[in-house]
Amino acid sequence: MPSVAHDIKDLSLSEEGSRLVDWADRDMPVLREIRGRFEQEQPFRGLRISACLHVTPETANLLRAIKAGGAEVVLCASNPLSTQDPVAAALVGAYGISVYAINGEDDDTYYRHIMAAVDHRPQLTMDDGADLIGVIHSTRRELLDSLIAGTEETTTGVLRLRAMEAEGVLGVPIIAVNEAQSKHLFDNRYGTGQSAIDGILRATNVLLAGSTFVVIGYGWCGRGVAERARGMGANVIVLEVDPLRALQAAMDGFRVMTAEQAAPLGDVFCTATGGKQVLRGEHFEQMKDGALIANAGHFNVEIDLPALREHAVSTSKPRPFVEEFVLQSGRRLNLLADGRLINLVAADGHPAAVMDMSFANQALSVEYAVKQAETLENRVYVVPPEIDVEVARLKLSALGMAIDVLSEEQQRYLESWTEGT
Ligand code: ADE
Repeated sequence: MPSVAHDIKDLSLSEEGSRLVDWADRDMPVLREIRGRFEQEQPFRGLRISACLHVTPETANLLRAIKAGGAEVVLCASNPLSTQDPVAAALVGAYGISVYAINGEDDDTYYRHIMAAVDHRPQLTMDDGADLIGVIHSTRRELLDSLIAGTEETTTGVLRLRAMEAEGVLGVPIIAVNEAQSKHLFDNRYGTGQSAIDGILRATNVLLAGSTFVVIGYGWCGRGVAERARGMGANVIVLEVDPLRALQAAMDGFRVMTAEQAAPLGDVFCTATGGKQVLRGEHFEQMKDGALIANAGHFNVEIDLPALREHAVSTSKPRPFVEEFVLQSGRRLNLLADGRLINLVAADGHPAAVMDMSFANQALSVEYAVKQAETLENRVYVVPPEIDVEVARLKLSALGMAIDVLSEEQQRYLESWTEGT
Protein backbone atom coordinates (compact mmCIF):
# COMPACT_ATOMS: atom_id res chain seq x y z
CA MET A 1 0.00 0.00 0.00
CA PRO A 2 1.49 3.42 -0.94
CA SER A 3 2.26 5.37 2.21
CA VAL A 4 -0.10 8.20 3.10
CA ALA A 5 0.94 11.44 4.82
CA HIS A 6 1.30 11.03 8.56
CA ASP A 7 3.00 12.11 11.77
CA ILE A 8 2.96 9.20 14.18
CA LYS A 9 5.37 7.62 16.64
CA ASP A 10 6.57 4.55 14.77
CA LEU A 11 5.19 2.97 11.60
CA SER A 12 6.86 -0.32 12.46
CA LEU A 13 4.20 -0.82 15.18
CA SER A 14 1.63 -1.37 12.42
CA GLU A 15 1.33 -5.16 12.80
CA GLU A 16 0.83 -4.93 16.56
CA GLY A 17 -1.79 -2.25 15.94
CA SER A 18 -3.60 -4.34 13.32
CA ARG A 19 -3.99 -7.16 15.83
CA LEU A 20 -5.60 -4.71 18.28
CA VAL A 21 -7.92 -3.38 15.58
CA ASP A 22 -8.97 -6.93 14.60
CA TRP A 23 -9.55 -7.84 18.25
CA ALA A 24 -11.87 -4.84 18.69
CA ASP A 25 -13.60 -5.60 15.38
CA ARG A 26 -14.82 -8.93 16.81
CA ASP A 27 -16.97 -6.97 19.28
CA MET A 28 -18.22 -4.43 16.75
CA PRO A 29 -20.77 -6.38 14.69
CA VAL A 30 -23.04 -3.41 14.03
CA LEU A 31 -20.25 -1.28 12.65
CA ARG A 32 -19.03 -4.27 10.63
CA GLU A 33 -22.43 -4.62 9.00
CA ILE A 34 -22.47 -0.90 8.22
CA ARG A 35 -18.97 -1.16 6.76
CA GLY A 36 -20.16 -3.94 4.44
CA ARG A 37 -23.07 -1.82 3.24
CA PHE A 38 -20.89 1.28 2.80
CA GLU A 39 -18.49 -0.79 0.67
CA GLN A 40 -21.37 -1.61 -1.68
CA GLU A 41 -23.12 1.76 -1.68
CA GLN A 42 -20.16 4.17 -1.52
CA PRO A 43 -22.08 6.98 0.24
CA PHE A 44 -18.92 9.10 0.72
CA ARG A 45 -17.32 8.59 -2.68
CA GLY A 46 -14.67 11.30 -3.14
CA LEU A 47 -15.60 13.24 0.01
CA ARG A 48 -12.86 14.60 2.29
CA ILE A 49 -13.54 13.79 5.94
CA SER A 50 -11.43 14.88 8.92
CA ALA A 51 -11.82 13.19 12.29
CA CYS A 52 -10.53 14.39 15.66
CA LEU A 53 -11.11 11.35 17.86
CA HIS A 54 -9.26 9.25 20.43
CA VAL A 55 -6.85 7.09 18.44
CA THR A 56 -7.97 3.65 19.63
CA PRO A 57 -8.75 0.33 17.93
CA GLU A 58 -12.46 1.20 18.06
CA THR A 59 -11.87 4.48 16.25
CA ALA A 60 -9.79 2.60 13.69
CA ASN A 61 -12.81 0.43 12.93
CA LEU A 62 -15.03 3.48 12.55
CA LEU A 63 -12.57 4.98 10.09
CA ARG A 64 -12.31 1.71 8.18
CA ALA A 65 -16.08 1.91 7.69
CA ILE A 66 -15.94 5.55 6.60
CA LYS A 67 -13.11 4.83 4.18
CA ALA A 68 -14.90 1.75 2.84
CA GLY A 69 -17.71 4.16 1.95
CA GLY A 70 -15.37 5.99 -0.41
CA ALA A 71 -14.10 8.88 1.76
CA GLU A 72 -10.59 10.32 1.93
CA VAL A 73 -10.05 10.30 5.69
CA VAL A 74 -7.56 12.11 7.92
CA LEU A 75 -7.40 11.53 11.68
CA CYS A 76 -5.87 13.60 14.48
CA ALA A 77 -6.09 12.91 18.22
CA SER A 78 -8.76 14.43 20.45
CA ASN A 79 -6.49 14.18 23.49
CA PRO A 80 -2.67 14.25 23.70
CA LEU A 81 -2.49 11.25 26.05
CA SER A 82 -5.12 8.84 24.68
CA THR A 83 -3.41 7.88 21.42
CA GLN A 84 -2.48 4.21 21.09
CA ASP A 85 0.66 4.47 18.95
CA PRO A 86 0.38 0.95 17.46
CA VAL A 87 -3.16 1.77 16.30
CA ALA A 88 -1.98 5.00 14.69
CA ALA A 89 0.66 2.93 12.87
CA ALA A 90 -1.90 0.35 11.71
CA LEU A 91 -4.20 3.04 10.36
CA VAL A 92 -1.36 4.40 8.25
CA GLY A 93 0.39 1.15 7.36
CA ALA A 94 -2.47 -1.32 6.99
CA TYR A 95 -5.49 0.83 6.17
CA GLY A 96 -3.97 3.75 4.25
CA ILE A 97 -5.52 6.42 6.48
CA SER A 98 -3.53 9.59 7.25
CA VAL A 99 -2.97 9.98 10.98
CA TYR A 100 -1.45 12.87 12.95
CA ALA A 101 -1.18 11.72 16.55
CA ILE A 102 1.57 10.72 18.95
CA ASN A 103 0.95 9.62 22.52
CA GLY A 104 2.32 12.24 24.94
CA GLU A 105 2.56 14.99 22.30
CA ASP A 106 2.98 18.50 23.72
CA ASP A 107 0.36 21.22 23.24
CA ASP A 108 2.09 22.68 20.16
CA THR A 109 2.24 19.30 18.44
CA TYR A 110 -1.36 18.56 19.43
CA TYR A 111 -2.57 21.76 17.72
CA ARG A 112 -0.20 21.29 14.77
CA HIS A 113 -1.84 17.88 14.28
CA ILE A 114 -5.31 19.41 14.44
CA MET A 115 -4.19 21.91 11.79
CA ALA A 116 -3.05 19.00 9.59
CA ALA A 117 -6.60 17.60 9.76
CA VAL A 118 -7.98 21.08 9.03
CA ASP A 119 -5.60 21.45 6.05
CA HIS A 120 -7.31 18.40 4.54
CA ARG A 121 -10.11 20.91 3.78
CA PRO A 122 -12.79 18.60 5.14
CA GLN A 123 -16.29 18.53 3.71
CA LEU A 124 -17.33 16.64 6.83
CA THR A 125 -15.85 16.59 10.33
CA MET A 126 -16.12 14.09 13.16
CA ASP A 127 -15.21 15.57 16.54
CA ASP A 128 -14.85 14.37 20.12
CA GLY A 129 -14.74 17.63 22.10
CA ALA A 130 -15.39 20.09 19.24
CA ASP A 131 -11.72 20.94 18.65
CA LEU A 132 -11.87 20.66 14.84
CA ILE A 133 -15.00 22.75 14.59
CA GLY A 134 -13.59 25.24 17.12
CA VAL A 135 -10.32 25.67 15.22
CA ILE A 136 -12.09 26.00 11.85
CA HIS A 137 -14.38 28.70 13.28
CA SER A 138 -11.58 30.62 14.94
CA THR A 139 -8.78 30.37 12.37
CA ARG A 140 -9.96 28.94 9.03
CA ARG A 141 -13.44 30.35 8.46
CA GLU A 142 -13.10 30.11 4.68
CA LEU A 143 -13.44 26.31 5.09
CA LEU A 144 -16.98 26.73 6.40
CA ASP A 145 -18.14 27.35 2.80
CA SER A 146 -17.33 23.81 1.71
CA LEU A 147 -18.18 22.13 5.01
CA ILE A 148 -21.37 20.07 4.65
CA ALA A 149 -21.75 19.09 8.31
CA GLY A 150 -19.98 17.83 11.40
CA THR A 151 -20.70 15.21 14.02
CA GLU A 152 -19.93 15.47 17.73
CA GLU A 153 -19.30 12.49 19.97
CA THR A 154 -19.26 13.84 23.49
CA THR A 155 -21.31 15.77 26.06
CA THR A 156 -18.67 18.50 26.46
CA GLY A 157 -18.46 19.08 22.71
CA VAL A 158 -22.24 19.26 22.36
CA LEU A 159 -22.41 21.85 25.17
CA ARG A 160 -19.89 24.04 23.32
CA LEU A 161 -21.63 23.66 19.98
CA ARG A 162 -24.99 24.53 21.52
CA ALA A 163 -23.34 27.63 23.05
CA MET A 164 -22.12 28.57 19.55
CA GLU A 165 -25.62 27.98 18.16
CA ALA A 166 -27.20 30.12 20.91
CA GLU A 167 -24.77 32.97 20.15
CA GLY A 168 -25.59 32.69 16.44
CA VAL A 169 -21.98 31.91 15.48
CA LEU A 170 -22.31 28.27 14.45
CA GLY A 171 -21.42 28.12 10.77
CA VAL A 172 -22.18 24.47 9.99
CA PRO A 173 -24.88 21.88 10.74
CA ILE A 174 -23.88 19.51 13.54
CA ILE A 175 -25.31 16.10 14.36
CA ALA A 176 -25.00 15.58 18.12
CA VAL A 177 -24.19 11.88 18.22
CA ASN A 178 -23.94 12.05 22.02
CA GLU A 179 -27.65 12.76 22.19
CA ALA A 180 -28.70 9.49 20.58
CA GLN A 181 -30.14 7.26 23.30
CA SER A 182 -28.30 4.31 21.80
CA LYS A 183 -25.12 6.32 22.44
CA HIS A 184 -25.29 8.01 25.84
CA LEU A 185 -27.43 5.45 27.66
CA PHE A 186 -24.78 2.84 26.92
CA ASP A 187 -21.42 4.50 26.13
CA ASN A 188 -21.59 7.18 28.83
CA ARG A 189 -23.13 4.89 31.44
CA TYR A 190 -21.65 1.42 30.91
CA GLY A 191 -18.61 2.52 28.91
CA THR A 192 -17.40 5.28 31.22
CA GLY A 193 -18.64 3.37 34.25
CA GLN A 194 -16.43 0.38 33.52
CA SER A 195 -13.45 2.05 31.89
CA ALA A 196 -13.03 4.84 34.47
CA ILE A 197 -12.90 2.24 37.24
CA ASP A 198 -10.53 0.20 35.05
CA GLY A 199 -8.23 3.23 34.69
CA ILE A 200 -8.22 3.95 38.44
CA LEU A 201 -7.43 0.31 39.20
CA ARG A 202 -4.70 -0.03 36.57
CA ALA A 203 -3.08 3.21 37.76
CA THR A 204 -3.16 2.37 41.48
CA ASN A 205 -4.30 -1.23 42.15
CA VAL A 206 -6.37 0.24 45.00
CA LEU A 207 -8.89 -2.00 46.77
CA LEU A 208 -12.32 -0.48 46.22
CA ALA A 209 -14.17 -2.83 48.57
CA GLY A 210 -14.85 -0.91 51.76
CA SER A 211 -13.40 2.34 50.43
CA THR A 212 -15.28 5.64 50.28
CA PHE A 213 -15.60 6.62 46.65
CA VAL A 214 -16.78 10.13 45.78
CA VAL A 215 -18.33 10.66 42.34
CA ILE A 216 -18.69 14.28 41.29
CA GLY A 217 -21.47 14.75 38.72
CA TYR A 218 -24.50 12.50 38.24
CA GLY A 219 -25.01 12.71 34.49
CA TRP A 220 -24.89 9.45 32.55
CA CYS A 221 -21.12 9.11 33.04
CA GLY A 222 -21.26 9.83 36.76
CA ARG A 223 -24.13 7.36 37.19
CA GLY A 224 -22.10 4.69 35.46
CA VAL A 225 -19.05 5.31 37.63
CA ALA A 226 -21.13 5.40 40.84
CA GLU A 227 -22.93 2.17 39.95
CA ARG A 228 -19.75 0.29 39.09
CA ALA A 229 -17.88 1.58 42.17
CA ARG A 230 -20.77 0.34 44.30
CA GLY A 231 -20.59 -2.98 42.47
CA MET A 232 -16.96 -3.29 43.60
CA GLY A 233 -18.00 -2.80 47.22
CA ALA A 234 -17.23 0.89 47.68
CA ASN A 235 -19.34 3.22 49.82
CA VAL A 236 -20.30 5.76 47.20
CA ILE A 237 -20.97 9.46 47.81
CA VAL A 238 -22.41 11.56 44.98
CA LEU A 239 -21.95 15.32 44.58
CA GLU A 240 -24.32 17.00 42.12
CA VAL A 241 -25.42 20.62 41.61
CA ASP A 242 -28.70 19.81 39.80
CA PRO A 243 -31.49 19.17 42.37
CA LEU A 244 -33.30 16.60 40.19
CA ARG A 245 -30.17 14.60 39.53
CA ALA A 246 -29.10 14.87 43.17
CA LEU A 247 -32.48 13.50 44.22
CA GLN A 248 -32.15 10.63 41.74
CA ALA A 249 -28.74 9.83 43.20
CA ALA A 250 -30.26 9.80 46.68
CA MET A 251 -33.09 7.50 45.58
CA ASP A 252 -30.62 5.30 43.74
CA GLY A 253 -29.23 4.71 47.21
CA PHE A 254 -26.16 6.95 47.24
CA ARG A 255 -25.21 9.45 49.93
CA VAL A 256 -25.54 12.97 48.55
CA MET A 257 -23.65 15.93 50.00
CA THR A 258 -21.50 18.94 49.17
CA ALA A 259 -17.86 18.90 48.12
CA GLU A 260 -16.92 20.50 51.42
CA GLN A 261 -18.64 17.69 53.35
CA ALA A 262 -17.22 14.92 51.15
CA ALA A 263 -13.62 16.19 50.99
CA PRO A 264 -12.50 14.74 54.37
CA LEU A 265 -14.38 11.45 53.78
CA GLY A 266 -13.24 10.22 50.37
CA ASP A 267 -10.52 7.68 49.64
CA VAL A 268 -11.09 8.06 45.89
CA PHE A 269 -12.52 11.08 44.05
CA CYS A 270 -13.63 10.89 40.43
CA THR A 271 -14.97 13.94 38.58
CA ALA A 272 -17.46 13.51 35.73
CA THR A 273 -19.17 16.89 35.43
CA GLY A 274 -18.07 18.48 32.14
CA GLY A 275 -17.49 21.63 34.20
CA LYS A 276 -14.37 23.23 35.66
CA GLN A 277 -12.69 23.52 39.08
CA VAL A 278 -15.11 21.22 40.85
CA LEU A 279 -12.31 20.05 43.17
CA ARG A 280 -10.36 23.07 44.42
CA GLY A 281 -7.83 24.27 46.97
CA GLU A 282 -10.30 24.33 49.87
CA HIS A 283 -11.17 20.69 49.16
CA PHE A 284 -7.55 19.55 48.78
CA GLU A 285 -6.84 21.08 52.19
CA GLN A 286 -9.49 18.81 53.76
CA MET A 287 -8.68 15.53 51.98
CA LYS A 288 -7.25 12.49 53.75
CA ASP A 289 -3.64 11.43 53.50
CA GLY A 290 -3.35 9.11 50.49
CA ALA A 291 -6.54 10.22 48.72
CA LEU A 292 -6.69 9.39 44.99
CA ILE A 293 -8.03 12.05 42.62
CA ALA A 294 -9.10 11.19 39.07
CA ASN A 295 -11.12 12.77 36.27
CA ALA A 296 -13.46 11.02 33.83
CA GLY A 297 -14.65 14.20 32.06
CA HIS A 298 -13.42 15.32 28.65
CA PHE A 299 -11.08 18.17 29.64
CA ASN A 300 -8.41 18.35 32.36
CA VAL A 301 -10.02 21.33 34.08
CA GLU A 302 -12.40 19.60 36.51
CA ILE A 303 -9.63 19.25 39.09
CA ASP A 304 -8.03 22.64 39.79
CA LEU A 305 -4.49 21.55 38.88
CA PRO A 306 -2.82 24.95 39.38
CA ALA A 307 -4.30 25.07 42.91
CA LEU A 308 -3.08 21.53 43.61
CA ARG A 309 0.42 22.51 42.53
CA GLU A 310 0.25 25.68 44.62
CA HIS A 311 -0.76 23.76 47.74
CA ALA A 312 2.09 21.24 47.36
CA VAL A 313 5.50 21.51 48.96
CA SER A 314 6.87 18.62 46.88
CA THR A 315 5.79 16.13 44.23
CA SER A 316 6.93 12.68 43.11
CA LYS A 317 5.82 9.87 40.77
CA PRO A 318 5.32 6.68 42.79
CA ARG A 319 3.81 4.76 39.81
CA PRO A 320 3.06 5.40 36.15
CA PHE A 321 -0.03 7.61 35.89
CA VAL A 322 0.24 8.68 39.56
CA GLU A 323 1.67 11.99 40.74
CA GLU A 324 1.89 12.46 44.48
CA PHE A 325 1.56 15.95 45.95
CA VAL A 326 2.76 16.48 49.52
CA LEU A 327 0.90 19.34 51.20
CA GLN A 328 2.19 21.64 53.94
CA SER A 329 0.38 19.45 56.50
CA GLY A 330 2.38 16.42 55.34
CA ARG A 331 -0.71 14.80 53.78
CA ARG A 332 -0.17 13.18 50.38
CA LEU A 333 -2.70 13.52 47.56
CA ASN A 334 -2.38 11.37 44.45
CA LEU A 335 -3.41 12.83 41.12
CA LEU A 336 -4.09 10.18 38.47
CA ALA A 337 -3.33 10.55 34.75
CA ASP A 338 -2.50 14.26 35.04
CA GLY A 339 -6.18 14.93 35.64
CA ARG A 340 -6.97 13.88 32.08
CA LEU A 341 -9.55 11.27 31.08
CA ILE A 342 -8.57 8.42 33.39
CA ASN A 343 -10.26 5.76 31.24
CA LEU A 344 -8.36 6.58 28.06
CA VAL A 345 -5.03 7.54 29.60
CA ALA A 346 -4.50 4.77 32.17
CA ALA A 347 -6.72 2.15 30.48
CA ASP A 348 -7.99 1.35 26.97
CA GLY A 349 -11.10 3.55 26.96
CA HIS A 350 -14.56 2.09 26.56
CA PRO A 351 -14.80 -1.52 25.45
CA ALA A 352 -15.38 -2.17 21.75
CA ALA A 353 -18.79 -3.72 22.38
CA VAL A 354 -20.18 -0.37 23.55
CA MET A 355 -18.19 1.78 21.09
CA ASP A 356 -19.88 -0.39 18.43
CA MET A 357 -23.12 1.47 19.14
CA SER A 358 -21.55 4.92 19.50
CA PHE A 359 -19.63 4.60 16.28
CA ALA A 360 -22.54 3.02 14.41
CA ASN A 361 -24.37 6.25 15.30
CA GLN A 362 -21.37 8.24 14.04
CA ALA A 363 -21.21 6.36 10.74
CA LEU A 364 -24.96 6.56 10.12
CA SER A 365 -25.06 10.23 11.15
CA VAL A 366 -22.36 11.13 8.63
CA GLU A 367 -24.29 9.24 5.95
CA TYR A 368 -27.48 11.07 6.97
CA ALA A 369 -25.71 14.45 6.82
CA VAL A 370 -24.51 13.74 3.29
CA LYS A 371 -27.98 12.65 2.16
CA GLN A 372 -29.69 15.61 3.84
CA ALA A 373 -27.02 18.19 2.95
CA GLU A 374 -29.52 20.41 1.12
CA THR A 375 -31.98 20.60 4.00
CA LEU A 376 -29.69 21.01 7.02
CA GLU A 377 -29.24 24.46 8.58
CA ASN A 378 -26.41 25.72 10.79
CA ARG A 379 -27.87 24.18 13.92
CA VAL A 380 -27.19 21.36 16.34
CA TYR A 381 -29.40 18.39 15.42
CA VAL A 382 -30.16 15.32 17.45
CA VAL A 383 -29.55 12.00 15.73
CA PRO A 384 -32.76 11.12 13.86
CA PRO A 385 -34.82 8.61 15.92
CA GLU A 386 -34.83 6.14 12.98
CA ILE A 387 -31.04 5.89 13.23
CA ASP A 388 -31.10 5.70 17.03
CA VAL A 389 -33.61 2.83 17.04
CA GLU A 390 -31.92 1.09 14.11
CA VAL A 391 -28.63 0.97 16.04
CA ALA A 392 -30.39 -0.65 19.02
CA ARG A 393 -32.20 -3.08 16.69
CA LEU A 394 -28.98 -4.09 14.94
CA LYS A 395 -27.18 -4.53 18.29
CA LEU A 396 -29.94 -6.73 19.67
CA SER A 397 -29.90 -8.81 16.52
CA ALA A 398 -26.09 -9.12 16.64
CA LEU A 399 -26.41 -10.30 20.25
CA GLY A 400 -28.89 -12.94 19.08
CA MET A 401 -31.77 -11.44 21.05
CA ALA A 402 -35.29 -11.29 19.67
CA ILE A 403 -37.98 -9.05 21.11
CA ASP A 404 -41.77 -9.21 20.83
CA VAL A 405 -43.76 -7.09 18.41
CA LEU A 406 -47.07 -5.40 19.23
CA SER A 407 -50.14 -6.75 17.45
CA GLU A 408 -52.15 -4.23 15.43
CA GLU A 409 -54.80 -4.29 18.12
CA GLN A 410 -52.26 -3.54 20.86
CA GLN A 411 -50.77 -0.74 18.79
CA ARG A 412 -54.24 0.76 18.19
CA TYR A 413 -54.99 0.58 21.91
CA LEU A 414 -51.82 2.47 22.79
CA GLU A 415 -52.63 5.17 20.26
CA SER A 416 -56.32 5.61 21.19
CA TRP A 417 -58.05 7.40 24.05
CA THR A 418 -61.51 5.80 23.85
CA GLU A 419 -60.75 2.32 25.11
CA GLY A 420 -60.06 1.30 28.66
CA THR A 421 -61.97 3.54 31.10
N1 ADE B 1 -14.09 7.28 24.04
C1 ADE B 1 -14.17 6.48 25.11
N2 ADE B 1 -13.68 5.26 24.85
C2 ADE B 1 -13.26 5.28 23.56
C3 ADE B 1 -12.67 4.31 22.72
N3 ADE B 1 -12.41 3.06 23.15
N4 ADE B 1 -12.39 4.69 21.47
C4 ADE B 1 -12.65 5.95 21.05
N5 ADE B 1 -13.21 6.89 21.78
C5 ADE B 1 -13.52 6.57 23.05
